[in-house]
Amino acid sequence: TSRLRMAARLAYGAACVSLGFTGMMIYQEQHPGVQPPPDPKKKTLVILGTGWGATSLLKGLKTENFNVVVVSPKNYFLFTPLLPSCTVGTVDHRSVMQPIRYVTRHKKTAVQVLEGECTNIDPKTRTIVVEDNSDIRGSTSSTTLPYDYLVVAVGAENQTFGIPGVREYACFLKEIWDAKKIRTRLMDCIETAAFAGQSEEEIQRLLHMVVVGGGPTGVEYAAELHDFIVEDLSVWYPDIAGKVKITLIEALPNVLPAFSKQLIDYTESTFKENQIDVLTKTKVKTVKEREITVEEPNGASRDIPYGLLVWATGNTSRQVVRNLIATAPEKQKQRRGLEVDEHLRALGMDSVFALGDATATKYAPTAQVASQQGAYLAAVFNKLGAMEKDDAISPDLDTRLEAVKPFKYSHYASLAYIGSDKAIADVSFLNGNVSAGGVATYLFWRSVYLSNLFSTRNRCLVASDWIKRTLFGRDIGRD
Ligand code: FAD
Ligand code: NAI
Repeated sequence: TSRLRMAARLAYGAACVSLGFTGMMIYQEQHPGVQPPPDPKKKTLVILGTGWGATSLLKGLKTENFNVVVVSPKNYFLFTPLLPSCTVGTVDHRSVMQPIRYVTRHKKTAVQVLEGECTNIDPKTRTIVVEDNSDIRGSTSSTTLPYDYLVVAVGAENQTFGIPGVREYACFLKEIWDAKKIRTRLMDCIETAAFAGQSEEEIQRLLHMVVVGGGPTGVEYAAELHDFIVEDLSVWYPDIAGKVKITLIEALPNVLPAFSKQLIDYTESTFKENQIDVLTKTKVKTVKEREITVEEPNGASRDIPYGLLVWATGNTSRQVVRNLIATAPEKQKQRRGLEVDEHLRALGMDSVFALGDATATKYAPTAQVASQQGAYLAAVFNKLGAMEKDDAISPDLDTRLEAVKPFKYSHYASLAYIGSDKAIADVSFLNGNVSAGGVATYLFWRSVYLSNLFSTRNRCLVASDWIKRTLFGRDIGRD
């Protein structure tokens, strides 16, 4: 009993310390200090975007060295790995958003944040055009900003391969509003199917949820949808839940081409158990309001009726990036993004840096890569900022960058949720790779994402969403 008492005391002590620590973190996050304004004599560093790359850069940047301006049409950072969970209410969408001012207000020197879209970059005059495209406009909604250094971290947009009907009828899964739209449409399909007098054929169409693209986005969405049907719809719509069908369509011979063979097989067999129909070697050719036409492996054409269509066939570059690429045709040869050198400087553009999904590099377009590149650029600018104070150092950027180590990417793990409380992970370990899948991997998946969330606030919100879902199930109300 004395050992038990001792263990209980230790556990109580540890709980008190961690509660106290969390309380202190929350207090610090919510009470930023006084910030001096930027010094106009310093160089202007403009950062485009508030995504993985830009936010990671901002976190590590010593803002006292520059006039820092952040430009983004979204005034928040979005934790994309949990976006598929938002489509069915496993996690609330606000829990995965971090207002960017929560980051910038904690910097030593104030940072200017402009909610607007950069529509043009002119590397010759070192200026950018920013437009306020929000519903509410003031006396001005367009401005031109000069920069000394520019970081292009605008990410990418959805790839459609020009397939007709995709933009009109499909839902994407990239932004917070995409997840909300999917959730609303899903519940609309369910309620419409439950409407009195609906024909059996129409019910089947409305309850056919089709996902195009067997990359991680498509797989994770199908997995979340499956859980929602089995855990929630079956309780609240017992007559309908059994009729909901999920089909995942992939053009290649298997889903998740970037994962190891063992995990591809594990995912496909889990999907089979979960009655998710996977159509591989099948290409979507056209999209209409109520049906898609696919080309089957034997070359035949087939129409597939659907209620909800989610489109996840990867990335393509944004217009502003394409325009920028066109300004340096001799150096920029890729359409999928900006080519950069070892210091992440855009080829053929003197003081433009780029990172993440906006670039065309040997790395996959992932948050892991973008955030490491952001942290790297923070170190680069901290060095450049320190050099500004030393008149003995040449002002030439090429010379200055010679003293800075090139970017080096370290791959830690590829993770994906595949449904029924199972996840898969390819983890880099001692120069090799360890593959794992199952419930234990799901717990690992959860702990990795919880610890990677940008703030204690987000961690508390996501953890409480998971608890809410366990206690009460997901909310089935339609917005
Ligand atoms: P983003 O994070 O997309 O940020 C781009 C920023 O630029 C945004 O703030 C945007 O508003 C802003 N912007 C856009 N246009 C302009 C403009 N004209 N002017 C100014 N600003 C602009 N990767 C992983 O490693 N692990 C995962 O588990 C994972 N899960 C994912 C789940 C989903 C559903 C999706 C869609 C992606 C996932 N990814 C994951 C990929 C990851 O989200 C991207 O690789 C990452 O977001 C790229 O970071 P980025 O900074 O380049 O771009
Ligand atoms: P993706 O590019 O990884 O996969 C898209 C898939 O769509 C491809 O397999 C492609 O063959 C298929 N496709 C293309 N056209 C098609 C058509 N007409 N018909 C049928 N299939 C078609 O795209 P995704 O999943 O959106 O991911 C984008 C990036 O974000 C990737 O780098 C990915 O690694 C990353 N990501 C990572 C996640 C994770 O690590 N858990 C989660 C989500 C995204």
